[in-house]
Amino acid sequence: MDAIMSLCKRRGFIFQASDIYGGINGFWDYGPLGAQLKKNLREAWWQDMIMNPCWGRKGPNGRRVECVPVETRIIQHPKVWEASGHVGGFNDPMVDCKETKGRYRYDHVMVFVPESGDAGDKPVFAYVGDQPSESKQKKKAEKTFGAVKSVALSSIPQPWTRVIAPEAEKPGTLTEPRMFNLMFDTIPGAIKDEANRAYLRPETAQGVFLQFKNVVDSSRVKIPFGIGNTGTSFRNEVTPRNYTFRSREFEQAELEFFCHPDESFKWYEFWRDFRMDWWKSIGLAGENLILREHAKDELSHYSVGTSDVEYRFPFTFPEFGELEGIAHRGNYDLTQHQKHSGAKLEYFDQERGELLPNGSKRGERYLPHCIEPAAGLDRGALAILCEAYTKDESRPSPEIMKFHPRIAPIKAAVFPLVNKDGMPEIAEKLYDAVRARFAKVGFVEFDEKQSIGKRYARMDEGGCPFCFTVDGQTATDQTVTVRDRDTGAQSRMAMDQVVKFLEDKLGV
Ligand code: GAP
Repeated sequence: MDAIMSLCKRRGFIFQASDIYGGINGFWDYGPLGAQLKKNLREAWWQDMIMNPCWGRKGPNGRRVECVPVETRIIQHPKVWEASGHVGGFNDPMVDCKETKGRYRYDHVMVFVPESGDAGDKPVFAYVGDQPSESKQKKKAEKTFGAVKSVALSSIPQPWTRVIAPEAEKPGTLTEPRMFNLMFDTIPGAIKDEANRAYLRPETAQGVFLQFKNVVDSSRVKIPFGIGNTGTSFRNEVTPRNYTFRSREFEQAELEFFCHPDESFKWYEFWRDFRMDWWKSIGLAGENLILREHAKDELSHYSVGTSDVEYRFPFTFPEFGELEGIAHRGNYDLTQHQKHSGAKLEYFDQERGELLPNGSKRGERYLPHCIEPAAGLDRGALAILCEAYTKDESRPSPEIMKFHPRIAPIKAAVFPLVNKDGMPEIAEKLYDAVRARFAKVGFVEFDEKQSIGKRYARMDEGGCPFCFTVDGQTATDQTVTVRDRDTGAQSRMAMDQVVKFLEDKLGV
Protein backbone atom coordinates (compact mmCIF):
# COMPACT_ATOMS: atom_id res chain seq x y z
CA MET A 1 0.00 0.00 0.00
CA ASP A 2 2.89 2.36 0.77
CA ALA A 3 4.22 1.90 -2.77
CA ILE A 4 0.79 2.58 -4.27
CA MET A 5 0.28 5.69 -2.11
CA SER A 6 3.70 6.98 -3.02
CA LEU A 7 3.06 6.53 -6.76
CA CYS A 8 -0.37 8.16 -6.38
CA LYS A 9 1.22 11.26 -4.87
CA ARG A 10 4.24 11.35 -7.22
CA ARG A 11 2.13 10.97 -10.38
CA GLY A 12 -0.78 13.17 -9.29
CA PHE A 13 -3.55 10.67 -8.63
CA ILE A 14 -4.35 11.42 -4.98
CA PHE A 15 -3.16 14.16 -2.61
CA GLN A 16 -3.92 14.77 1.03
CA ALA A 17 -6.51 17.59 1.24
CA SER A 18 -4.94 20.82 2.59
CA ASP A 19 -1.55 19.16 2.11
CA ILE A 20 0.49 22.35 2.61
CA TYR A 21 -1.15 22.78 6.04
CA GLY A 22 -0.31 19.24 7.06
CA GLY A 23 -3.54 17.68 5.77
CA ILE A 24 -6.92 17.18 7.38
CA ASN A 25 -7.91 13.78 8.66
CA GLY A 26 -10.44 11.96 6.50
CA PHE A 27 -10.32 14.24 3.44
CA TRP A 28 -8.49 13.56 0.16
CA ASP A 29 -8.12 15.45 -3.11
CA TYR A 30 -7.49 14.12 -6.58
CA GLY A 31 -4.66 15.40 -8.76
CA PRO A 32 -4.83 15.69 -12.56
CA LEU A 33 -4.63 11.96 -13.31
CA GLY A 34 -6.85 10.99 -10.37
CA ALA A 35 -9.53 13.53 -11.29
CA GLN A 36 -9.72 12.16 -14.83
CA LEU A 37 -9.64 8.54 -13.60
CA LYS A 38 -12.58 9.23 -11.31
CA LYS A 39 -14.44 11.08 -14.05
CA ASN A 40 -14.01 8.04 -16.33
CA LEU A 41 -15.34 5.79 -13.58
CA ARG A 42 -18.35 8.09 -12.99
CA GLU A 43 -19.02 8.30 -16.75
CA ALA A 44 -18.82 4.51 -17.10
CA TRP A 45 -21.37 4.17 -14.30
CA TRP A 46 -23.63 6.84 -15.82
CA GLN A 47 -23.44 5.24 -19.25
CA ASP A 48 -24.01 1.64 -18.14
CA MET A 49 -26.60 2.37 -15.43
CA ILE A 50 -28.61 5.28 -16.85
CA MET A 51 -28.09 5.91 -20.56
CA ASN A 52 -27.84 2.27 -21.70
CA PRO A 53 -28.62 0.33 -18.52
CA CYS A 54 -27.00 -3.08 -18.20
CA TRP A 55 -25.61 -2.83 -21.76
CA GLY A 56 -29.11 -3.44 -23.17
CA ARG A 57 -29.60 -6.66 -21.18
CA LYS A 58 -33.24 -7.60 -20.62
CA GLY A 59 -34.56 -7.66 -17.05
CA PRO A 60 -36.49 -10.52 -15.40
CA ASN A 61 -39.69 -9.08 -16.96
CA GLY A 62 -38.23 -9.78 -20.43
CA ARG A 63 -37.96 -6.05 -21.24
CA ARG A 64 -35.06 -3.62 -21.51
CA VAL A 65 -34.12 -1.94 -18.24
CA GLU A 66 -35.19 1.72 -18.05
CA CYS A 67 -33.47 4.33 -15.87
CA VAL A 68 -33.36 8.13 -15.58
CA PRO A 69 -31.06 10.42 -13.60
CA VAL A 70 -31.65 13.14 -11.03
CA GLU A 71 -29.19 15.51 -9.41
CA THR A 72 -30.23 16.39 -5.91
CA ARG A 73 -28.76 18.67 -3.26
CA ILE A 74 -26.47 17.88 -0.37
CA ILE A 75 -28.68 19.83 2.02
CA GLN A 76 -32.34 18.87 2.25
CA HIS A 77 -35.11 19.56 4.73
CA PRO A 78 -33.96 18.31 8.16
CA LYS A 79 -37.08 16.16 8.51
CA VAL A 80 -35.78 14.02 5.63
CA TRP A 81 -33.18 12.50 7.93
CA GLU A 82 -35.68 11.87 10.70
CA ALA A 83 -37.88 10.02 8.22
CA SER A 84 -34.97 8.05 6.74
CA GLY A 85 -33.85 6.90 10.18
CA HIS A 86 -30.49 8.68 10.04
CA VAL A 87 -31.17 11.04 12.96
CA GLY A 88 -32.15 8.18 15.25
CA GLY A 89 -30.12 5.30 13.87
CA PHE A 90 -27.05 6.40 11.94
CA ASN A 91 -24.66 6.01 14.82
CA ASP A 92 -21.32 4.40 15.51
CA PRO A 93 -20.17 3.46 19.01
CA MET A 94 -17.10 5.42 20.04
CA VAL A 95 -14.72 5.63 22.96
CA ASP A 96 -12.79 8.76 23.98
CA CYS A 97 -9.38 9.00 25.59
CA LYS A 98 -9.40 11.47 28.51
CA GLU A 99 -5.61 11.90 28.29
CA THR A 100 -5.01 12.51 24.55
CA LYS A 101 -8.57 13.60 23.59
CA GLY A 102 -8.34 10.92 20.86
CA ARG A 103 -11.65 9.47 19.67
CA TYR A 104 -11.92 5.93 18.34
CA ARG A 105 -14.58 3.69 16.93
CA TYR A 106 -15.19 1.17 19.66
CA ASP A 107 -15.36 -1.77 17.28
CA HIS A 108 -12.05 -0.75 15.66
CA VAL A 109 -10.02 -0.71 18.88
CA MET A 110 -7.85 -3.78 19.48
CA VAL A 111 -5.63 -4.62 22.44
CA PHE A 112 -2.25 -6.37 22.64
CA VAL A 113 -2.31 -8.86 25.52
CA PRO A 114 0.16 -11.62 26.41
CA GLU A 115 -0.19 -14.74 24.30
CA SER A 116 -1.49 -16.62 27.35
CA GLY A 117 -4.25 -14.01 27.65
CA ASP A 118 -3.40 -13.34 31.32
CA ALA A 119 -1.75 -9.96 31.91
CA GLY A 120 -1.93 -10.27 35.70
CA ASP A 121 -1.98 -6.74 37.10
CA LYS A 122 0.13 -5.29 34.27
CA PRO A 123 -1.37 -2.78 31.83
CA VAL A 124 -2.31 -3.90 28.27
CA PHE A 125 -1.91 -1.83 25.12
CA ALA A 126 -4.76 -0.63 22.89
CA TYR A 127 -4.37 0.37 19.24
CA VAL A 128 -6.28 0.94 16.03
CA GLY A 129 -5.14 -1.17 13.07
CA ASP A 130 -3.19 0.60 10.30
CA GLN A 131 -2.62 3.67 12.47
CA PRO A 132 0.85 4.59 13.78
CA SER A 133 -0.33 3.48 17.23
CA GLU A 134 -0.31 -0.17 16.13
CA SER A 135 3.45 -0.68 15.80
CA LYS A 136 4.28 1.59 18.77
CA GLN A 137 1.91 -0.28 21.08
CA LYS A 138 3.11 -3.65 19.83
CA LYS A 139 6.71 -2.80 20.67
CA LYS A 140 5.73 -1.70 24.19
CA ALA A 141 3.55 -4.78 24.70
CA GLU A 142 6.32 -7.13 23.56
CA LYS A 143 8.74 -5.45 25.93
CA THR A 144 6.35 -6.12 28.81
CA PHE A 145 5.04 -9.57 27.89
CA GLY A 146 7.26 -11.13 25.21
CA ALA A 147 4.95 -12.82 22.69
CA VAL A 148 1.59 -11.03 22.35
CA LYS A 149 -1.72 -11.51 20.58
CA SER A 150 -4.52 -9.08 19.61
CA VAL A 151 -8.01 -9.16 21.06
CA ALA A 152 -10.92 -6.78 20.56
CA LEU A 153 -11.36 -4.09 23.24
CA SER A 154 -14.94 -5.34 23.61
CA SER A 155 -13.58 -8.67 24.95
CA ILE A 156 -11.95 -6.91 27.91
CA PRO A 157 -14.34 -6.34 30.83
CA GLN A 158 -15.07 -2.72 31.82
CA PRO A 159 -13.95 -0.51 33.45
CA TRP A 160 -10.77 -0.53 31.42
CA THR A 161 -8.53 0.62 34.26
CA ARG A 162 -5.52 -1.33 32.96
CA VAL A 163 -5.91 -0.48 29.26
CA ILE A 164 -3.43 2.08 27.85
CA ALA A 165 -5.23 3.89 25.03
CA PRO A 166 -3.54 4.39 21.62
CA GLU A 167 -1.02 7.28 21.91
CA ALA A 168 -1.63 7.57 25.70
CA GLU A 169 0.92 7.15 28.48
CA LYS A 170 -1.29 6.32 31.47
CA PRO A 171 -3.73 3.39 31.79
CA GLY A 172 -7.44 3.82 32.45
CA THR A 173 -8.16 6.85 30.27
CA LEU A 174 -10.70 5.29 27.89
CA THR A 175 -14.35 6.22 28.45
CA GLU A 176 -17.24 3.80 28.14
CA PRO A 177 -18.54 3.45 24.57
CA ARG A 178 -21.32 5.81 23.58
CA MET A 179 -23.22 6.36 20.37
CA PHE A 180 -22.08 9.09 17.99
CA ASN A 181 -24.21 10.32 15.09
CA LEU A 182 -22.28 10.31 11.82
CA MET A 183 -24.08 13.22 10.14
CA PHE A 184 -22.34 16.57 9.79
CA ASP A 185 -24.64 19.46 10.57
CA THR A 186 -24.80 23.11 9.65
CA ILE A 187 -27.18 26.04 10.02
CA PRO A 188 -28.10 27.55 6.64
CA GLY A 189 -29.08 31.22 6.52
CA ALA A 190 -28.15 34.26 8.56
CA ILE A 191 -30.01 33.36 11.74
CA LYS A 192 -28.08 30.89 13.85
CA ASP A 193 -31.17 29.29 15.27
CA GLU A 194 -31.24 25.64 16.39
CA ALA A 195 -34.59 25.30 14.64
CA ASN A 196 -32.78 25.86 11.33
CA ARG A 197 -30.22 23.13 11.85
CA ALA A 198 -29.74 21.02 8.69
CA TYR A 199 -27.53 18.07 7.78
CA LEU A 200 -25.07 17.29 5.01
CA ARG A 201 -26.42 14.18 3.29
CA PRO A 202 -24.84 10.91 4.40
CA GLU A 203 -26.09 9.19 1.21
CA THR A 204 -27.32 10.28 -2.22
CA ALA A 205 -30.17 7.76 -2.10
CA GLN A 206 -32.61 9.91 -0.11
CA GLY A 207 -32.60 12.62 -2.81
CA VAL A 208 -34.12 10.04 -5.17
CA PHE A 209 -36.97 9.10 -2.81
CA LEU A 210 -37.74 12.80 -2.28
CA GLN A 211 -38.13 13.36 -6.03
CA PHE A 212 -39.80 10.02 -6.82
CA LYS A 213 -43.23 11.60 -7.26
CA ASN A 214 -41.96 14.52 -9.34
CA VAL A 215 -40.09 12.15 -11.65
CA VAL A 216 -43.16 9.92 -12.11
CA ASP A 217 -45.36 12.97 -12.77
CA SER A 218 -42.96 14.74 -15.13
CA SER A 219 -41.47 11.95 -17.25
CA ARG A 220 -42.82 8.89 -19.02
CA VAL A 221 -41.26 6.34 -16.69
CA LYS A 222 -43.33 3.30 -15.79
CA ILE A 223 -42.68 0.70 -13.12
CA PRO A 224 -40.25 -1.05 -13.22
CA PHE A 225 -37.69 1.74 -13.62
CA GLY A 226 -34.65 3.18 -11.87
CA ILE A 227 -33.57 6.66 -10.79
CA GLY A 228 -29.84 7.26 -10.48
CA ASN A 229 -28.07 9.92 -8.44
CA THR A 230 -24.37 10.62 -8.09
CA GLY A 231 -22.55 13.07 -5.86
CA THR A 232 -20.77 13.88 -2.67
CA SER A 233 -21.88 12.45 0.65
CA PHE A 234 -20.52 13.19 4.10
CA ARG A 235 -20.07 11.00 7.15
CA ASN A 236 -18.28 12.15 10.24
CA GLU A 237 -16.43 8.82 10.51
CA VAL A 238 -14.98 8.38 13.99
CA THR A 239 -11.84 6.73 12.67
CA PRO A 240 -11.23 7.62 9.02
CA ARG A 241 -8.54 5.29 7.74
CA ASN A 242 -7.08 3.17 5.00
CA TYR A 243 -6.31 6.04 2.62
CA THR A 244 -9.50 7.08 0.80
CA PHE A 245 -11.39 3.90 1.80
CA ARG A 246 -13.05 5.42 4.83
CA SER A 247 -13.22 9.19 4.28
CA ARG A 248 -15.42 11.86 5.75
CA GLU A 249 -16.30 13.27 2.34
CA PHE A 250 -16.75 10.85 -0.55
CA GLU A 251 -18.70 10.36 -3.74
CA GLN A 252 -21.48 7.87 -4.28
CA ALA A 253 -23.25 6.58 -7.39
CA GLU A 254 -26.57 5.11 -6.38
CA LEU A 255 -29.49 3.70 -8.31
CA GLU A 256 -32.91 3.25 -6.75
CA PHE A 257 -34.79 0.75 -8.88
CA PHE A 258 -38.55 0.74 -8.27
CA CYS A 259 -40.61 -2.36 -8.98
CA HIS A 260 -43.77 -4.21 -8.00
CA PRO A 261 -43.37 -6.04 -4.66
CA ASP A 262 -44.07 -9.43 -6.31
CA GLU A 263 -41.13 -8.98 -8.69
CA SER A 264 -38.70 -7.44 -6.26
CA PHE A 265 -36.60 -10.50 -5.43
CA LYS A 266 -36.03 -11.29 -9.11
CA TRP A 267 -34.87 -7.69 -9.65
CA TYR A 268 -32.68 -7.91 -6.57
CA GLU A 269 -30.92 -10.97 -8.03
CA PHE A 270 -30.70 -9.30 -11.42
CA TRP A 271 -29.01 -6.17 -10.11
CA ARG A 272 -26.70 -8.09 -7.80
CA ASP A 273 -25.41 -10.15 -10.72
CA PHE A 274 -25.15 -7.21 -13.11
CA ARG A 275 -23.19 -5.08 -10.66
CA MET A 276 -20.65 -7.84 -10.21
CA ASP A 277 -20.31 -8.18 -14.00
CA TRP A 278 -19.92 -4.40 -14.28
CA TRP A 279 -17.00 -4.11 -11.88
CA LYS A 280 -15.36 -7.00 -13.73
CA SER A 281 -15.87 -5.21 -17.05
CA ILE A 282 -13.78 -2.23 -15.93
CA GLY A 283 -10.79 -4.24 -14.83
CA LEU A 284 -11.50 -5.75 -11.40
CA ALA A 285 -11.79 -9.30 -12.73
CA GLY A 286 -10.06 -12.06 -10.82
CA GLU A 287 -9.72 -13.41 -7.32
CA ASN A 288 -9.68 -9.99 -5.68
CA LEU A 289 -13.38 -9.43 -6.36
CA ILE A 290 -16.20 -11.30 -4.64
CA LEU A 291 -19.95 -11.04 -4.12
CA ARG A 292 -21.02 -11.66 -0.54
CA GLU A 293 -24.59 -12.13 0.65
CA HIS A 294 -25.21 -10.56 4.08
CA ALA A 295 -26.33 -12.74 6.96
CA LYS A 296 -29.68 -11.70 8.48
CA ASP A 297 -28.02 -10.08 11.55
CA GLU A 298 -25.83 -7.87 9.31
CA LEU A 299 -28.72 -6.22 7.47
CA SER A 300 -29.25 -2.44 7.76
CA HIS A 301 -32.34 -1.17 9.54
CA TYR A 302 -34.24 -0.89 6.24
CA SER A 303 -32.99 -3.92 4.35
CA VAL A 304 -34.64 -7.28 3.78
CA GLY A 305 -31.68 -8.55 1.71
CA THR A 306 -28.24 -7.19 0.85
CA SER A 307 -25.19 -8.37 -1.07
CA ASP A 308 -21.86 -6.60 -1.19
CA VAL A 309 -19.41 -6.45 -4.02
CA GLU A 310 -16.11 -6.65 -2.15
CA TYR A 311 -12.52 -6.11 -3.20
CA ARG A 312 -9.42 -7.49 -1.55
CA PHE A 313 -7.45 -4.29 -0.88
CA PRO A 314 -3.81 -4.59 0.27
CA PHE A 315 -4.89 -3.19 3.67
CA THR A 316 -7.79 -5.64 4.08
CA PHE A 317 -5.79 -8.66 2.84
CA PRO A 318 -6.56 -11.56 3.21
CA GLU A 319 -10.05 -10.19 3.88
CA PHE A 320 -12.14 -8.02 1.56
CA GLY A 321 -13.59 -4.50 1.86
CA GLU A 322 -16.96 -3.26 0.55
CA LEU A 323 -17.05 -1.46 -2.81
CA GLU A 324 -20.78 -1.47 -3.31
CA GLY A 325 -23.86 -2.69 -1.48
CA ILE A 326 -26.89 -4.00 -3.39
CA ALA A 327 -29.83 -3.77 -1.01
CA HIS A 328 -33.44 -4.80 -1.22
CA ARG A 329 -34.93 -1.86 0.68
CA GLY A 330 -38.54 -3.00 0.38
CA ASN A 331 -40.82 0.04 0.52
CA TYR A 332 -39.21 1.35 3.71
CA ASP A 333 -38.14 4.75 2.36
CA LEU A 334 -41.30 5.65 0.44
CA THR A 335 -43.39 4.54 3.44
CA GLN A 336 -41.32 6.68 5.80
CA HIS A 337 -41.40 9.80 3.59
CA GLN A 338 -45.11 9.37 2.95
CA LYS A 339 -45.70 9.21 6.69
CA HIS A 340 -43.41 12.10 7.66
CA SER A 341 -44.24 14.48 4.79
CA GLY A 342 -47.93 13.70 4.36
CA ALA A 343 -47.42 13.48 0.56
CA LYS A 344 -49.03 10.58 -1.31
CA LEU A 345 -46.21 8.55 -2.85
CA GLU A 346 -48.18 5.56 -4.09
CA TYR A 347 -47.85 4.59 -7.71
CA PHE A 348 -50.86 3.84 -9.90
CA ASP A 349 -49.97 0.90 -12.14
CA GLN A 350 -52.29 0.79 -15.15
CA GLU A 351 -50.94 -2.52 -16.33
CA ARG A 352 -52.07 -4.45 -13.24
CA GLY A 353 -55.36 -5.51 -11.66
CA GLU A 354 -58.22 -7.54 -13.10
CA LEU A 355 -59.17 -7.41 -16.77
CA LEU A 356 -62.25 -5.22 -17.37
CA PRO A 357 -64.94 -6.01 -19.95
CA ASN A 358 -63.60 -3.21 -22.17
CA GLY A 359 -60.25 -5.07 -22.42
CA SER A 360 -58.28 -2.69 -20.22
CA LYS A 361 -56.91 -3.43 -16.73
CA ARG A 362 -58.46 -2.04 -13.55
CA GLY A 363 -55.05 -0.85 -12.34
CA GLU A 364 -53.39 -1.22 -8.95
CA ARG A 365 -52.20 1.38 -6.47
CA TYR A 366 -49.15 0.46 -4.39
CA LEU A 367 -45.91 1.65 -2.87
CA PRO A 368 -43.19 0.21 -5.08
CA HIS A 369 -40.35 -1.82 -3.64
CA CYS A 370 -36.85 -0.59 -4.20
CA ILE A 371 -33.63 -2.37 -5.15
CA GLU A 372 -30.58 -0.22 -4.53
CA PRO A 373 -27.15 -0.80 -6.06
CA ALA A 374 -25.12 1.76 -4.05
CA ALA A 375 -21.54 2.19 -5.24
CA GLY A 376 -18.74 4.32 -3.81
CA LEU A 377 -16.76 6.09 -6.52
CA ASP A 378 -13.77 6.82 -4.28
CA ARG A 379 -13.59 3.23 -3.13
CA GLY A 380 -14.05 2.17 -6.75
CA ALA A 381 -11.17 4.42 -7.83
CA LEU A 382 -9.03 3.07 -4.99
CA ALA A 383 -9.74 -0.54 -5.96
CA ILE A 384 -8.89 0.29 -9.57
CA LEU A 385 -5.60 1.90 -8.49
CA CYS A 386 -4.71 -1.10 -6.31
CA GLU A 387 -5.61 -3.61 -9.04
CA ALA A 388 -3.70 -1.66 -11.70
CA TYR A 389 -0.49 -1.35 -9.68
CA THR A 390 1.98 -3.88 -11.07
CA LYS A 391 5.65 -4.35 -10.32
CA ASP A 392 7.79 -5.88 -13.04
CA GLU A 393 11.46 -5.76 -12.08
CA SER A 394 12.48 -6.92 -15.57
CA ARG A 395 11.30 -3.61 -17.05
CA PRO A 396 13.49 -0.47 -17.02
CA SER A 397 10.82 1.27 -14.96
CA PRO A 398 9.27 -1.45 -12.84
CA GLU A 399 6.03 0.30 -11.76
CA ILE A 400 3.17 -0.04 -14.24
CA MET A 401 -0.45 1.01 -13.77
CA LYS A 402 -2.41 -1.52 -15.81
CA PHE A 403 -5.73 0.33 -16.01
CA HIS A 404 -8.54 -0.93 -18.18
CA PRO A 405 -8.40 1.30 -21.32
CA ARG A 406 -11.91 2.62 -20.60
CA ILE A 407 -10.88 3.93 -17.18
CA ALA A 408 -7.26 4.93 -17.93
CA PRO A 409 -6.87 8.70 -17.45
CA ILE A 410 -4.27 8.95 -20.23
CA LYS A 411 -5.60 7.28 -23.35
CA ALA A 412 -2.63 7.60 -25.67
CA ALA A 413 0.75 9.28 -26.08
CA VAL A 414 2.61 10.40 -29.19
CA PHE A 415 6.40 10.77 -29.34
CA PRO A 416 8.95 11.76 -31.92
CA LEU A 417 11.81 9.25 -31.53
CA VAL A 418 14.34 12.10 -31.76
CA ASN A 419 13.94 15.85 -32.01
CA LYS A 420 15.17 16.19 -35.62
CA ASP A 421 14.74 14.97 -39.20
CA GLY A 422 11.14 16.20 -39.37
CA MET A 423 9.95 13.74 -36.70
CA PRO A 424 8.58 16.34 -34.25
CA GLU A 425 6.46 17.95 -37.01
CA ILE A 426 4.92 14.61 -38.09
CA ALA A 427 4.38 13.61 -34.45
CA GLU A 428 2.63 16.91 -33.67
CA LYS A 429 0.22 16.36 -36.57
CA LEU A 430 -0.62 12.87 -35.35
CA TYR A 431 -0.98 14.20 -31.80
CA ASP A 432 -3.45 16.88 -32.97
CA ALA A 433 -5.59 14.27 -34.75
CA VAL A 434 -5.60 11.85 -31.80
CA ARG A 435 -6.24 14.58 -29.26
CA ALA A 436 -9.12 16.05 -31.26
CA ARG A 437 -10.82 12.65 -31.33
CA PHE A 438 -10.14 11.38 -27.78
CA ALA A 439 -9.82 14.44 -25.52
CA LYS A 440 -13.42 13.91 -24.41
CA VAL A 441 -12.49 10.62 -22.72
CA GLY A 442 -9.04 11.42 -21.31
CA PHE A 443 -5.60 12.90 -21.74
CA VAL A 444 -3.62 12.49 -24.94
CA GLU A 445 0.04 13.30 -24.22
CA PHE A 446 2.88 14.61 -26.37
CA ASP A 447 6.34 13.99 -24.98
CA GLU A 448 9.67 14.79 -26.58
CA LYS A 449 11.82 15.09 -23.46
CA GLN A 450 14.57 12.60 -22.52
CA SER A 451 15.21 9.13 -23.93
CA ILE A 452 12.40 7.09 -25.45
CA GLY A 453 12.81 4.52 -22.63
CA LYS A 454 12.20 7.21 -19.99
CA ARG A 455 9.15 8.44 -21.87
CA TYR A 456 7.68 4.91 -22.03
CA ALA A 457 8.39 4.52 -18.32
CA ARG A 458 6.55 7.78 -17.52
CA MET A 459 3.54 6.57 -19.49
CA ASP A 460 3.62 3.15 -17.76
CA GLU A 461 3.44 4.84 -14.37
CA GLY A 462 0.54 7.02 -15.52
CA GLY A 463 -1.17 3.93 -16.93
CA CYS A 464 -1.29 5.05 -20.58
CA PRO A 465 -2.24 1.93 -22.57
CA PHE A 466 -0.78 2.90 -25.96
CA CYS A 467 2.24 4.97 -27.07
CA PHE A 468 2.81 5.86 -30.71
CA THR A 469 6.31 6.76 -31.86
CA VAL A 470 7.24 8.57 -35.04
CA ASP A 471 10.68 7.35 -36.13
CA GLY A 472 13.06 7.42 -39.12
CA GLN A 473 10.85 5.09 -41.14
CA THR A 474 7.69 7.19 -40.76
CA ALA A 475 8.59 9.77 -43.40
CA THR A 476 9.15 7.06 -46.03
CA ASP A 477 6.26 4.65 -45.42
CA GLN A 478 3.82 6.63 -43.22
CA THR A 479 3.96 4.05 -40.41
CA VAL A 480 4.54 4.50 -36.68
CA THR A 481 5.28 2.07 -33.88
CA VAL A 482 2.61 1.31 -31.32
CA ARG A 483 3.76 0.08 -27.93
CA ASP A 484 1.49 -1.90 -25.66
CA ARG A 485 1.83 -0.88 -21.99
CA ASP A 486 1.08 -4.31 -20.53
CA THR A 487 3.51 -6.37 -22.61
CA GLY A 488 5.97 -3.68 -23.68
CA ALA A 489 5.70 -5.21 -27.20
CA GLN A 490 5.95 -2.91 -30.22
CA SER A 491 4.55 -3.29 -33.71
CA ARG A 492 4.17 -1.02 -36.75
CA MET A 493 0.95 0.35 -38.09
CA ALA A 494 -0.09 2.82 -40.75
CA MET A 495 -0.31 6.30 -39.27
CA ASP A 496 -3.77 6.82 -40.75
CA GLN A 497 -5.00 3.74 -38.82
CA VAL A 498 -4.08 5.11 -35.38
CA VAL A 499 -7.45 6.77 -34.66
CA LYS A 500 -9.38 3.68 -35.79
CA PHE A 501 -7.09 1.44 -33.70
CA LEU A 502 -7.77 3.56 -30.60
CA GLU A 503 -11.50 3.70 -31.28
CA ASP A 504 -11.60 -0.11 -31.20
CA LYS A 505 -9.36 -0.44 -28.14
CA LEU A 506 -11.02 2.31 -26.09
CA GLY A 507 -14.56 1.42 -27.19
CA VAL A 508 -15.45 5.01 -28.13
N1 GAP B 1 -27.69 4.30 0.29
C1 GAP B 1 -27.04 3.17 0.88
C2 GAP B 1 -25.69 3.47 1.31
O1 GAP B 1 -25.27 4.60 1.39
P1 GAP B 1 -23.53 2.33 2.19
O2 GAP B 1 -23.11 0.87 2.12
O3 GAP B 1 -23.49 3.00 3.50
O4 GAP B 1 -24.98 2.34 1.58
C3 GAP B 1 -22.59 2.80 -0.19
O5 GAP B 1 -22.67 3.17 1.17
C4 GAP B 1 -21.16 2.89 -0.66
O6 GAP B 1 -20.63 4.19 -0.38
C5 GAP B 1 -20.21 1.93 0.03
O7 GAP B 1 -20.24 0.64 -0.55
C6 GAP B 1 -18.88 2.61 -0.17
O8 GAP B 1 -18.35 2.30 -1.45
C7 GAP B 1 -19.25 4.08 -0.12
N2 GAP B 1 -18.91 4.62 1.21
C8 GAP B 1 -19.65 4.57 2.32
N3 GAP B 1 -19.02 5.17 3.35
C9 GAP B 1 -17.84 5.61 2.87
C10 GAP B 1 -16.73 6.33 3.43
N4 GAP B 1 -16.72 6.74 4.70
N5 GAP B 1 -15.67 6.62 2.64
C11 GAP B 1 -15.67 6.23 1.35
N6 GAP B 1 -16.68 5.57 0.76
C12 GAP B 1 -17.76 5.25 1.50
